[in-house]
Amino acid sequence: MLGIETSCDETAAALYQPEAGLLAHAVHSQVADHAAYGGVVPELASRDHVRKLPGLVQGVLRDAGLEAEALGGVAWTRGPGLPGALMVGAGFARSLAWGLDVPAVGIHHLEGHLLAPLLEPQPPAMPLVALLVSGGHTLLVQVAGFGRYRVLGDSVDDAAGEAFDKTARLLGLPYPGGPAIARLAEAGRPGAVRLPRPMTDRPGLDFSFSGLKTAVLHAVEERGSDEQGRADIAHGFQEAVVETLAIKCRRALEQTGCRRLVVSGGVGANARLRERLDALAAERGFSVHYPRLELCTDNAAMIAYAGALRLAAGERGDLDFSVRPRWPL
Ligand code: KG4
Ligand code: ZN
Repeated sequence: MLGIETSCDETAAALYQPEAGLLAHAVHSQVADHAAYGGVVPELASRDHVRKLPGLVQGVLRDAGLEAEALGGVAWTRGPGLPGALMVGAGFARSLAWGLDVPAVGIHHLEGHLLAPLLEPQPPAMPLVALLVSGGHTLLVQVAGFGRYRVLGDSVDDAAGEAFDKTARLLGLPYPGGPAIARLAEAGRPGAVRLPRPMTDRPGLDFSFSGLKTAVLHAVEERGSDEQGRADIAHGFQEAVVETLAIKCRRALEQTGCRRLVVSGGVGANARLRERLDALAAERGFSVHYPRLELCTDNAAMIAYAGALRLAAGERGDLDFSVRPRWPL
């Protein structure tokens, strides 16, 4: 199964085979192209996908020592994402599948993310709870089995990654904000800046991060003029997000009776979040599973994997190459 991902600012291709696992995967990140604008510019993203995708597909075939004729199917990200960016992947994937006479399967990007931890050795059994934290989404999902998803909680405003990106901008840090904040937070003093843990004082599993951004803005006005102050704010912000996510994960596991948690999406690469969830798991006796770092952020391995599972489950693929920029899980 060839996987193709072009939903946002990463162009990616991967090859997955049910018997052998992940054969090859490659990602081209456009981060540097968008950095000057402080966020992703959709038109630039689409154009760069057009330029990079064919070479990436050839690259993974070469890495795996395969010809295109060996492919049994092509899985591509149908949505959600940027319409123009998605259409590049859709057109390429459908055309290649048509030419090779193999099925093309349109995949939900978030299904890809939440299955990514299962690409690792000793994957957890289902049912499980998935925490999906990326630049566009903050979801808690109950996964009863493959394709059986129930959203338990969602963000009512900003996504967790978006909060990292916006806070980074307030602190004068580059895009993407997550890694930059994590780095600056290392120099921050614990407890020096305490920010709210939004929506943890009432029941429920929804998230809200926009108020946190306002609290950061006030902290920057007060303390942001020197380097130590900015590091303290980065530290306080990261703690607030991590603690909020940990509280909701614990609640979701209690509420569903699940004993397994998987974490995915770009924010799932955050070392402090992993440390906190590992501690919680040890304390509460559940297991927690993460993808390797490069499969936390956008990639095509998760798309190829979801496609292979869908074909194995009897999905036939279709000729449709309409995209779904907004598409609930
Ligand atoms: O999953 P992803 O690559 O793209 C989306 O589908 O959104 O996630 C990107 C997001 C960005 O907001 C970025 O700031 C955040 O993940 N991120 C992190 C870290 N690495 C990436 N956030 C916190 N800590 C990190 N180490
Ligand atoms: Zn993503």
